[in-house]
Amino acid sequence: MTAREWLTVNPGGSRRVVVTKQLPGERWLGLLTAADCRVEIAQGDDVLSEAELRAAFGEHCDAAIGQLTEDWSAETLGALSAAGALIYSQYAVGYDNVDVAAATRLRLPVGNTPGVLTETTAQLAVALTFAAARRLAEGDRLMRAGAYHGWLPSMLLGSLLYRGTLGIVGAGRIGAAYARMMVEGHKMDLVYYDVRQNEELEHSMADYAAFLETHGERPVTCRRAETLPELLGACDVVSIHAALTAETRHLIGAPELAAMKEGAVLVNASRGPLVDEAALVAHCRAHPRFRAGLDVYENEPAMAPGLAELDNVVIVPHLGSATTWTREGMATLAAANVAALLDRWPVWHAAAGLEDVRPFLEDEETPHAAPSIVNAVDLGLPRYAGQARAKDDQQ
Ligand code: DGY
Repeated sequence: MTAREWLTVNPGGSRRVVVTKQLPGERWLGLLTAADCRVEIAQGDDVLSEAELRAAFGEHCDAAIGQLTEDWSAETLGALSAAGALIYSQYAVGYDNVDVAAATRLRLPVGNTPGVLTETTAQLAVALTFAAARRLAEGDRLMRAGAYHGWLPSMLLGSLLYRGTLGIVGAGRIGAAYARMMVEGHKMDLVYYDVRQNEELEHSMADYAAFLETHGERPVTCRRAETLPELLGACDVVSIHAALTAETRHLIGAPELAAMKEGAVLVNASRGPLVDEAALVAHCRAHPRFRAGLDVYENEPAMAPGLAELDNVVIVPHLGSATTWTREGMATLAAANVAALLDRWPVWHAAAGLEDVRPFLEDEETPHAAPSIVNAVDLGLPRYAGQARAKDDQQ
C-alpha cells in the first residue's frame, strides 16, 4: 500500500485540524484559517481505516473533520481526545458511525451538519419515488439498448400516485419536508409513524387541506399511525426517514414487506440497515409489481446479491445531499463547529430547518457559535444567547 498524501493549508496555523476528505467550496477553509488552523487534508477517494485515522492525529491534534464512511469508534475517539482535540466534527447530519456515548464519556463534543440538507435529501427521495413508480430506470435502459420501437398502449405502465396515500416512517426534518413535497405536489393523503407527534407537520397539512377546500377541491388528510403495520398496509408509497439505531436496524424486513400493498413503492434515502436488503431482494423478485427506490445500502457500498438484477428497483449511490450548494454548506457547518469549539464559543440552538443555519452560510461574518453539537446537552455546553429556541433536533 502506498503512503497516503496529505495537503496542508495554512501551514503556519497554530491549531492542527485533520480533515479526512477534500471538501467542496472555499468558505470552510476560510473559517478554519481565520481561526488560525493548520488544515491537513487527506487526499484520495478511499476510506481511511481506524489505524490511519489514529496515525493522522499523532501526538497532537486540535480537531478532526470526518466522514460518515469512517468508523469513529470509542478507540479512535479516545486517540483523538488523547491527542488533545476539542471536537470531532462529522461532515453529515447522520452520525450512526460515531460512538457518541463514548465521545461524551471522553467529554469530546461531536458536531454534525443539520438544516442544510433537509430539502436536498427530501427532493432526492421524491425523485426516487417517481423514478420507481414511473419506471424511469427501466425506460432509460430500454432506450439505451435500442429496444424502443414505438409507442405502445401498455409499455412500462407504472403507478400514478396522485391522490394516493403516502406513508412516512420518521417525521423529523427530512421526512416532513418530503411529506410536504409529495402531499402539496400530488394531493396525497398522509400517514406518518414516529415516536414523536409532529404538530408542525400536522398543522401544515391541515392548512393545505383548508386551502384545497377553499378552492373547491377535496381536502387531503393527515394522521399519525399507532403502529408500523397499520401504516404499511394503508399506503401506496412508504418512505423511510428514521435515524439508524440498534432499535431501528431492519425496521423493514420480510414481515413488514409482506404487510405492504402488492404494487406499493418503498423508498429509502436515510440509512441502508433500516431495511433487511436480502428480504427486499426476495420480496421484489416474488412481487414484480412492487417497486423500490434506494439511495442507501445495508453494507454500503456493496449491494445484496441479486439487487442489481431486479428491474423493479431503482438504485443510486447515496446521493441524498449531493448538490453543490448543500455539500458546500455542509463543509461550512462542519468547519464552523470546529472553529467555534476551538474558540470556546457557545452552541447554536438545534436546527429545525434552513433558516436556523442560514447565518452560517450567508452572513459576511458567521455567528460566534457552533451550529450543531449532538452531545451539547450531555456535556453541559453553554448555549448561544439571544436566539429563539428551535425545535428538538431530529434527522
Ligand atoms: C448525511 O448527512 O447523513 C447524509 O447521509 C449525507 O448525504
